[in-house]
Amino acid sequence: MHDGEFNLEVPQEVSRATIDALIKGHTGYCNLTGIDVLKSALIERCFQQHNKLYNPAEILVSNGSSQALFMLMKCMLSNADEILIPNPCWPAYRSYIELNGGIAVDYEMGNKGLDIVEIRKLVTFKTKALIINSPHNPTGLTLKRQDILELVALSEEFGFLLISDEAYEGIIFGSSEYVSPLDFMGDSSLLVVTRTFSKLFSMSGFRIGYMFADRKIIDRCSTLQGVMTDNACTFAQHGALAAITLPKSILKKRVDELQHRAYYCHQLLSTTFDIVRPQGGFYLFPDVSRVLGATWNSDIQFVDDLLNVKSVSTTPGSSYGMKDHIRISIASVNEAEIKEACGRIVDFVHHR
Ligand SMILES: Cc1ncc(COP(=O)(O)O)c(C=O)c1O
Repeated sequence: MHDGEFNLEVPQEVSRATIDALIKGHTGYCNLTGIDVLKSALIERCFQQHNKLYNPAEILVSNGSSQALFMLMKCMLSNADEILIPNPCWPAYRSYIELNGGIAVDYEMGNKGLDIVEIRKLVTFKTKALIINSPHNPTGLTLKRQDILELVALSEEFGFLLISDEAYEGIIFGSSEYVSPLDFMGDSSLLVVTRTFSKLFSMSGFRIGYMFADRKIIDRCSTLQGVMTDNACTFAQHGALAAITLPKSILKKRVDELQHRAYYCHQLLSTTFDIVRPQGGFYLFPDVSRVLGATWNSDIQFVDDLLNVKSVSTTPGSSYGMKDHIRISIASVNEAEIKEACGRIVDFVHHR
C-alpha cells in the first residue's frame, strides 16, 4: 500500500491513440514546448474549467510534472532563496529546492485548514514562492476556497510566486470542492500551475506533465528543457490528447473507484487510528502516535515491522516531514486487498 500509481488500466482510447501515433510516424522530435494540438486542447480545457485563458506561449509540456517542478526551481532560485512548502509534503519539493541552492521553509498543512497568520510570519525578503498541493500528498486533504483566496492575496501582497501542484487534479471525493488559484488569481504572472497525466489516467509511464506560467518563466524553463531532454515523448503526447477528450463518464468511474477504496480503507482503520477521511487523491495519513507505545520507537520502525511481520508495505510519515504518521496508498489495491491489508494492520497493532 505504498505505490502512488493507479492500477486501473490506461483507458483504451489513450492506448489506441498512442499506437496510432506510432504507426503514423509521430516518432521524431517535435516542438520543444509540446505538440500544438495538445497545448491548444489543454488551454481550452483550462478555460472551460476556470474561465482562465492562457496563450500558447504560456504552456510547456514536460516529462512528467516532476520535470516541470525541478526546472522551475532551477530557473528561479539563487543562493539561499526561500520557498515555502507544506508540511507534510511530497519529499521531492525539498530535494528540488535544496539541489538548486534554495532553502525549504515548512508551513503547516493542518486538518482544519491553513493558518494564514502563521504562514505570513514565515515570509521574508528571501521568499521566492509558496507551493500548494491540493488534493494533497500525503494527507488526502483538499484546500478550502478561503485558504486559497488568502494565499492568492498573500502572494500578490508580497510578490512571490504561488506554485500550485495539481498532480491529483480531478480526483475529488464526496462533497469536497476542487478549488484552484486559477479561479481567483488577479496577477497571473505570479501563478504557476503544474499538472500531470500520471495519476487519474494511470499514465505514469507516459511521462507527460505540463506547466502553465508567465511566458518569461516558460521561456527559461523551455531553454533548460531543450538542453536537458528536449521535447516530452511525441507519441505519448498524442495519447495525452486522447486522455483529455475522454467522456466524463469514464473519468467519473475512475474517481468513484478511488473514492470507494479510500472510504472503505478509512472505515476499516478508523477505530484503530486517528485518521481523517480523504477528500481526494490517492492517500490516507493515519496518526500512529497513540499506538506506538513502548513497542515501536518511531513511525519508521512501525513501518519496517509491519512489512517484516505482516508483509504490508506502507511509508513512514517521516519521509514526508511528519513523524508519528504513516502514509497508506489505495491507488494500487482492490477492495479485497484493502480488506486483507487493513485486517493485518489492525491485528498487528492489537496483538503486538
Ligand atoms: C504531489 C505530487 N506532485 C507531482 C508528482 C509528479 O508526478 P509526475 O512526474 O509523474 O507527473 C507526484 C508524483 O507522485 C506527486 O505526488
